[in-house]
Amino acid sequence: MKSLPDVDMVLFGGTGDLAMRKLLPALYQQVKTGTLSTASRILAAARKPLDRAGFLALAEATCRPFLGDAFDAETWAAFAERVHYFPMDAVQAESYGPLAEALGQHPERVRVFYYSTSPDFFAAMSANLGAAGLITTQSRVVVEKPLGHDLHSSREINDAVGQHFTERQIFRIDHYLGKEPVQNLLALRFGNVLFEPLWRREWVQDVQITVAEQLGVEGRGDFYEGTGALRDMLQNHLLQLLCIVAMEPPTSSDPDAVRDEKLKVLRSLKPFRPQDVATKTVRGQYKAGAVASQPVIGYAEEAGVAPDSRTETFVAVKAEIDTWRWAGVPFFLRSGKRMPEKLAEIVVNFRPVPHPIFGEAHHTNRANRLIIRMQPDESMRLYLEAKQPGDAMALHPVNLNLDFAESFKARRLEAYERLLLDAMRGKLTLFVRRDEQEAAWRWVEPILDSWAANEDRPKFYTAGSWGPAASSALLSRDGLAWNEED
Ligand code: BG6
Repeated sequence: MKSLPDVDMVLFGGTGDLAMRKLLPALYQQVKTGTLSTASRILAAARKPLDRAGFLALAEATCRPFLGDAFDAETWAAFAERVHYFPMDAVQAESYGPLAEALGQHPERVRVFYYSTSPDFFAAMSANLGAAGLITTQSRVVVEKPLGHDLHSSREINDAVGQHFTERQIFRIDHYLGKEPVQNLLALRFGNVLFEPLWRREWVQDVQITVAEQLGVEGRGDFYEGTGALRDMLQNHLLQLLCIVAMEPPTSSDPDAVRDEKLKVLRSLKPFRPQDVATKTVRGQYKAGAVASQPVIGYAEEAGVAPDSRTETFVAVKAEIDTWRWAGVPFFLRSGKRMPEKLAEIVVNFRPVPHPIFGEAHHTNRANRLIIRMQPDESMRLYLEAKQPGDAMALHPVNLNLDFAESFKARRLEAYERLLLDAMRGKLTLFVRRDEQEAAWRWVEPILDSWAANEDRPKFYTAGSWGPAASSALLSRDGLAWNEED
């Protein structure tokens, strides 16, 4: 992989969960592969009163399990040489002195400020960086979701950050766009002629996008209470995946060519009227059950959660796209915590054959399916019907592996690793533009409003199940079923 120019990467929230689980391990991998130059620096900033050695000890102990086999002492030592730590309160302008001094040693370098903190601090951090004169033309800021909790608050944050950084300097990260199979889907759609003619209402029956997790709220009850699955997962990750599936071919891979097309999809989503929310959305909350054969408590019993909480840990939505290409094709989106397995996949169900000639016994509504799987494994499979060997004309589903993992032996990059590299290189294609994000909020707001106005609690589902029964009913109203029920 091509080495990068020297970079100063500033991680605000440097001792936080995301930094430890994803960002530092991603930067470690860049040291291991030689992508991050020796002179590049990782400047971690957080409130914990640690010195450099203390931070490195914490980082090594915390990151190591996430690095698995990739960890080796020699690479860690090379990584540690690049790491510096700044104990500071990023909302206090007067605490920027040491960081400013360090950055001032290399004013010409690309600077990436990664805001891995609560969005409540984004405005103050941007203002403080601006006031300290640290935002050069070569600077970028990476902002993590959730960017606000509705359209209004997301605009406020975007305005505040936008006072100090131009739109082309703002990298709104959605790590689902960094996942290898998602980019492979782009390659499949726009690097081949075979799929595009089939990629439309005439041939596609429905699309299902699932992001299921076995995990619960993992001690983040306080945060999750004010968030819920719709804001945490659907407004961003699932809608971005929907855009990748549904967008028109962009004229090039330039950031704005791609983002213009995604924006068009978001703007074409059929708006929800209040009466649609009851029939086209489902919200659920897990109650005690078992996941992976282990008993788990219900959401309402988790620390930091109100016993009568109305926060949804599961959401399913029927989305419709009002365009010539997609009119009448339902896109079912669902995401939930405490599901039976960790599964993230996009299923494109093609229409059944118009006239079965091999007899009713071999007729299926699901002759052809494309399944793009992001978790637990990364794969892309096209399901076809083929003849079973033998004297009878019996059909059996087979799948073509379109992922070519065997053909390409190269190591796959983890989503954060790729996106950090893109941010360092200034490549915005896989980052979300402000208007896209606002269009996504605009579309989910009627759901949020309607749920807030409705006194009912979400429908309960047993931890370890695929969500409330209403989730299956959402598809059966169209004569369809989720992939695992089919
Ligand atoms: C994050 C959500 O954006 O995505 C988390 O805030 C969720 O609640 C996570 O667990 C899932 O990411 P992944 O890559 O593990 O599927």
